[in-house]
Amino acid sequence: MQPMNLPGPKAKALIERDQKVISPSYPRGYPFVMDHGRGTEVWDVDGNRFLDFAAGIAVVTTGHSHPKIVKAIQDQAEKFIHISSDFYHENWIRLGEKLAEHAPWKEDTCSFMTNSGTESVEGAIKLARYHTQASHFIGFLGAFHGRTIGAVTFTASKANYKNGFFPLMNGVLHAPYPNPYRPLLARKPGMGDGETVVSYIEEELIGRLVPGKDVAGILIEPIQGEGGYLVPPDDFFPALRKLCDKYGILLIADEVQCGMGRTGKFWAIEHFGVEPDVITSAKGIASGMPLGALVAKKKVMNWPKGSHGNTYGGNPISCAASLATIQLIEDELMENTRVVGAYCKDGLFDLQKKHPSIGDVRGMGFMLGVEFVEDRESKAPAEKLRDDVVDFAFERGLLLLGCGKSVIRIAPPLSTSKSEVDDALKIIDESISLAEKKHSLG
Ligand SMILES: Cc1ncc(COP(=O)(O)O)c(C=O)c1O
Repeated sequence: MQPMNLPGPKAKALIERDQKVISPSYPRGYPFVMDHGRGTEVWDVDGNRFLDFAAGIAVVTTGHSHPKIVKAIQDQAEKFIHISSDFYHENWIRLGEKLAEHAPWKEDTCSFMTNSGTESVEGAIKLARYHTQASHFIGFLGAFHGRTIGAVTFTASKANYKNGFFPLMNGVLHAPYPNPYRPLLARKPGMGDGETVVSYIEEELIGRLVPGKDVAGILIEPIQGEGGYLVPPDDFFPALRKLCDKYGILLIADEVQCGMGRTGKFWAIEHFGVEPDVITSAKGIASGMPLGALVAKKKVMNWPKGSHGNTYGGNPISCAASLATIQLIEDELMENTRVVGAYCKDGLFDLQKKHPSIGDVRGMGFMLGVEFVEDRESKAPAEKLRDDVVDFAFERGLLLLGCGKSVIRIAPPLSTSKSEVDDALKIIDESISLAEKKHSLG
């Protein structure tokens, strides 16, 4: 496959202008400058075509500019664009009803609409404190929950996210995330890896650092995203739920990345057979329109009038896009994700047989991770090799994103077809071969 010469002249000129006026803090990797997109395909400003297996960081659930989403946005924009959260409108209420219908618990549900994942997480932190009147929280190493001061305190995937921003929020402790491929804790006798982590929380954090009654919430990604697309073992969530029940702690599932059908179920937590108390959502909820939601059991969302609010919450265009997104997820995309996601995972397992640099393939639906190692015995993360795979894939027309130390995420729109997966796998295969050659592996 012939690599493209990137960036092209128009992309190069735009990046030069960007560098003069846009914050240098954005973590951009390779130089893709978008012109337009349809479904899983995107084109840059120089007319180069790519398959988008990053979906705007797992956001474009329905594919780029799905006609039904475009129509929902256009129809709403013609009626009204904004009225503020001081008033009411029907699509906001309908979205609340939809989220209640899909809530992974049997009780009544209330939702607070936000503009982003980090705002949903901030809301969850405040709600948990308000509801329990407890001050402390437990989060997990490797987590990503956002970048505002509260959320970034929980974020623990890279120290860089905190560098220069201390002091952060008080009262947040971290436990190891249950990672079946690289468990941080030695398994306790008679326990699995998941139960071992929960026992660590009880013995070491609650036992030594903060009494259980002072813990308001445990905030966790049911499948860890930025930290490496990690799927916890089956024994983890039931033990964590028991621990929360024992001490009256709220279980808060951060579904910003793994929710909205991405794993083949509406919420990722549904794979693990436990009910959380609160869910934070954003990203895929509105196919790219800025929207998030803090979804909670009604009895938990007992904060009074005026205690929490925002100007843009329940934005009419975002709500219209979200309703159309959820309709598509229900009608076809969740099923497509299950079928084509499994097909893609099989293809990745085949690549693992061929490429010694692939240490692990994991994930569910279209939330799949491929971890690169220097060798399978030491499992030493092959960071540079991973970066090269991403770059080689870009030059060959595939957008990928890294996560963890040496993982690539496969997170295309949920509408992606088997033939698009075949094309992407071919590019990944070739990119890995080139990277292995460059790093004298394989
Ligand atoms: C699990 C999770 N929570 C929260 C966030 C923050 O979302 P946002 O970037 O919309 O603020 C992210 C973003 O990647 C995420 O993956």
